[in-house]
Amino acid sequence: MKNLVVLSGAGISAESGLKTFRDSNGLWENHKIEDVATPTGWNNNPELVLEFYNQRRKQASLAKPNMAHKALARLENKFRVTIVTQNVDDLHEKAGSSVVYHLHGELNKARSTLDPNLTYKINDSNISMGDLCEKGYQLRPDIVWFGEPVPMIEKVITYFRSADILIVIGTSLSVYPASSLIDHVNSFADCYYIDPNANENTLRDDFTIIFKQASVGTKELVDILLRS
Ligand code: APR
Repeated sequence: MKNLVVLSGAGISAESGLKTFRDSNGLWENHKIEDVATPTGWNNNPELVLEFYNQRRKQASLAKPNMAHKALARLENKFRVTIVTQNVDDLHEKAGSSVVYHLHGELNKARSTLDPNLTYKINDSNISMGDLCEKGYQLRPDIVWFGEPVPMIEKVITYFRSADILIVIGTSLSVYPASSLIDHVNSFADCYYIDPNANENTLRDDFTIIFKQASVGTKELVDILLRS
């Protein structure tokens, strides 16, 4: 079986009704990154940070996977598929994909402010001030904020190194280290990038760029790959 690796970003969930970060009217146009997505923001105003992610979680809980998420799940019939997502929603899992790494954390988990390894599934519920881990410390969203290490990065690099096929979908590739993952893919791998606003300059020239919305572009590509 060939190894197929997917790197997804907010664009894959846009057609499920979840906002991207950097498109017009995106999340970072309406919220300041430093207020809601940094350790400093958390220290200054944890209530605001909790409220921001409680809203995100509520929206994600109502969202349904779209044709792109569903098409990727079908790839498992033919390939060894690893999905590496920058997204904190669970739409890949809801669509049926079985191997999903969330580089930037998950809305549906809380973590201890004492020990990052103490994490808890929270099943779409809010996190509030006063919600404590088993050691008595405040819980925070299990989200990787700007300025924090990305704990999974070394592990997922190994998947990129052994990829025979890479599909990048709906990401501006503007956040490091996620953006650097594609550099680890072998030159013999078949590489695709699906994004209506794809920036060709950020990519190796052997990428096939599909300037389409995720739902349409992913379905078309998956159909081709499953037939080939
Ligand atoms: N289909 C495919 N791509 C789309 C669609 C769509 N329907 N709609 C928008 N896009 C594309 C945009 O063209 C853009 O390239 O999705 C991309 C979204 O880019 P960003 O908003 O920068 O999102 P992302 O790349 O996932 O951001 C990375 O930044 O703030 C952090 O932690 C956050 O994980 C996030 C990271």
